[in-house]
Amino acid sequence: MKETNIYETDELVSQYCDFQYGDEYFGVMNFAKACAQKAIEYSKSTRQKRALDLGCATGRASFELARSFDHVDGIDYSQAFIDAAAELQKNGRIGYAQNDEGAIKKRKKVSINDSGFWEAGSKVHFSQGDACALVPEFTQYDLIMATNLIDRLYQPQLFLKNIHERINEKGILVLTSPYTWKEEYTAKEFWVGGYVDENGREVSTLEGLTKLLEANFELIATQNVPFVIRETARKFQHTISQMSVWKKR
Ligand SMILES: C[S@@+](CC[C@H](N)C(=O)[O-])C[C@H]1O[C@@H](n2cnc3c(N)ncnc32)[C@H](O)[C@@H]1O
Repeated sequence: MKETNIYETDELVSQYCDFQYGDEYFGVMNFAKACAQKAIEYSKSTRQKRALDLGCATGRASFELARSFDHVDGIDYSQAFIDAAAELQKNGRIGYAQNDEGAIKKRKKVSINDSGFWEAGSKVHFSQGDACALVPEFTQYDLIMATNLIDRLYQPQLFLKNIHERINEKGILVLTSPYTWKEEYTAKEFWVGGYVDENGREVSTLEGLTKLLEANFELIATQNVPFVIRETARKFQHTISQMSVWKKR
């Protein structure tokens, strides 16, 4: 993990509050909600007792999963993100400063009561933690979801190689990622894909994931999930994540 973690900054907490609870832009559905709904659908064939939302950021997908699951753990490396998620859970609302242009910011407020999951929220437990070094108590899940996480991990193999130990038989692992590998987050030797190997062959991330997961999981689906993150009033990131869904053998 690099020394200054951008996910601890007020700027990113505000951006993610807006991304996860604020307005939708250009007709693209709220990403956390879309991912949670798909994950719930994919896990319908198994029990829906315990779910883990790894890299939960400000917690929206965890709240969404709690509509169907009895217990949801939301874990993120950023204490600032976990504090924001916990504030929403406790008070039902949060305020943040939305970038408009230059130094001009707008005060915004979002409420989880508006999203209708005030009650489901009591089934969620948020904590700070490291996806590459999870403590033993986080286990026996029917669903583990990690959206846009793998290409932000310092060593994704540590997470991917051992995650099957925490999922129940026939349980579901849902990953999404735009596969934007960057050395500022992940040293190149640890990229799961998106590189050319020593024989000049291009290795895709889906291929890398399959190699790491196939001993314990069957790949049951892939699909594109778009998202839009507002940076300023006139600048937006429009990205297409790939969702891959894995069923534990
Ligand atoms: C690109 S954001 C994605 C957030 C959210 N899951 C989403 O789909 O919008 C990456 C998230 O992973 C978290 N993260 C980075 N490294 C982590 C680690 N080692 N363990 C747990 N979370 C981590 C960051 O703090 C951030 O919240």
